[in-house]
Amino acid sequence: MEKTFLMVKPDGVQRNLVGDIVSRFEKKGFKLAGAKLMYISDELAKTHYGEHKERPFFGELVDFITSGPVFAMVWEGEEVIKTARDMMGATNPQEAATGTIRGDFGVTVGKNIIHGSDSLESAEREINLFFNSDDVLSYDKQDSSWIY
Ligand code: TYD
Ligand code: MG
Repeated sequence: MEKTFLMVKPDGVQRNLVGDIVSRFEKKGFKLAGAKLMYISDELAKTHYGEHKERPFFGELVDFITSGPVFAMVWEGEEVIKTARDMMGATNPQEAATGTIRGDFGVTVGKNIIHGSDSLESAEREINLFFNSDDVLSYDKQDSSWIY
């Protein structure tokens, strides 16, 4: 089954949004496969956001993402990569639809609450960057036959 990497950013942790965000993905019907509260090192931040290293906002992005604990997660389910991106909303919360996480909770692009992988390749890369394979669990859930 498809997996994605999602992360509540330091602003979301500080604003007590971890529970609401986890709840949205649970209620949607996805399965939590791994989770941890952690600090991101400067090195991990630069690797994770490597595709943006030439962008003018890169320094601020690295400073922000390392500024406090993040809640890193692996979620599993059919089409979870794209569906989670849809549930997050547009990168800029000012353009994110109401009902999405960024649309409901965010105001500025620099503090947009949540990260989510944008493709199969980035999901695999990011899960491996943040989690040991032992910490991504495979287990049955009683209710999954009511979802698929
Ligand atoms: P990006 O990968 O384009 O967005 P997304 O998180 O939706 O995949 O950018 C990564 C992060 O960089 C984004 O979540 C917030 C930050 N960012 C800025 O601070 N300013 C910007 O102009 C952009 C495009 C992104
Ligand atoms: Mg991105």
